[in-house]
Amino acid sequence: MSAVAHEVGVPLIVDNTVPSPYGINPLKWGADVVVHSTTKFIGGHGTSIGGVIIDGGTFDYGASGRHPGLTEPDPSYHGLAYFPALGHGSYIIKARVQLLRDLGPAISPFNAFLTLQGLETLSLRMERHWANAQRVAEFLVAHPQVRSVNYAGLESSPWHERAAKYFEGRGFGSVLAFEIDGGREAGQRFADSLQLHSHVANIGDVRSLVIHPASTTHSQLSPEEQALSDVTPGLVRLSVGLETIDDILADLEVGFAAAKSAT
Ligand SMILES: Cc1ncc(COP(=O)(O)O)c(C=O)c1O
Repeated sequence: MSAVAHEVGVPLIVDNTVPSPYGINPLKWGADVVVHSTTKFIGGHGTSIGGVIIDGGTFDYGASGRHPGLTEPDPSYHGLAYFPALGHGSYIIKARVQLLRDLGPAISPFNAFLTLQGLETLSLRMERHWANAQRVAEFLVAHPQVRSVNYAGLESSPWHERAAKYFEGRGFGSVLAFEIDGGREAGQRFADSLQLHSHVANIGDVRSLVIHPASTTHSQLSPEEQALSDVTPGLVRLSVGLETIDDILADLEVGFAAAKSAT
């Protein structure tokens, strides 16, 4: 991806929210800019909305002529052409001095404090998130009411090898999805009946989270559009939290029992 982007003169910008900076370092693999929703694993506790941009500082914005926003004089900033005048980091400086100035998306001090406090335990949390997710995936694969599981930590996954390479053996993430027997009704009942899992659209919280996309996040799409985005009627998404694994699995069994009564 990086080589293709560079061939046509555009930077590769990677959203690294789901692996977190502890899981993958995209700059090492050829990304130019990395973004994170800190609302997820970095903050970690579902308390604060935020985001970060990491400028790798290596991309040449002048070479292709495709980035006039960086290479042409900015009349709102005394005619400065950010690149190459500001050199490495001109991308993130433009983001601050022009876009942040004009659009105002600055985090509040208290939210910044919560995010930083979360960051201090990132490595500890990720190890537990991933260990729990691996156990959940193995439990789901063996469950008679589960048709398929999407999780790179399973050797049967088409992404297993690549995830092992880019995570460098540290884990495989903690967001996974599975297809429940019984379609839409079963998926909806499953998500509605869990007690330990919070039924929300977030991911990366300390708590285990569940959502049934077909009846929530993707419910405005037609059945054809849902199919195009791989949202099948029985698809359930889990963001596996830090609770004791026995409690997580017991809660999932509650969901399966409820889903069975729907079919
Ligand atoms: C992978 C990913 N990137 C970015 C976002 C956007 O996050 P936020 O709502 O914090 O802007 C989300 C979640 O909505 C996400 O899942």
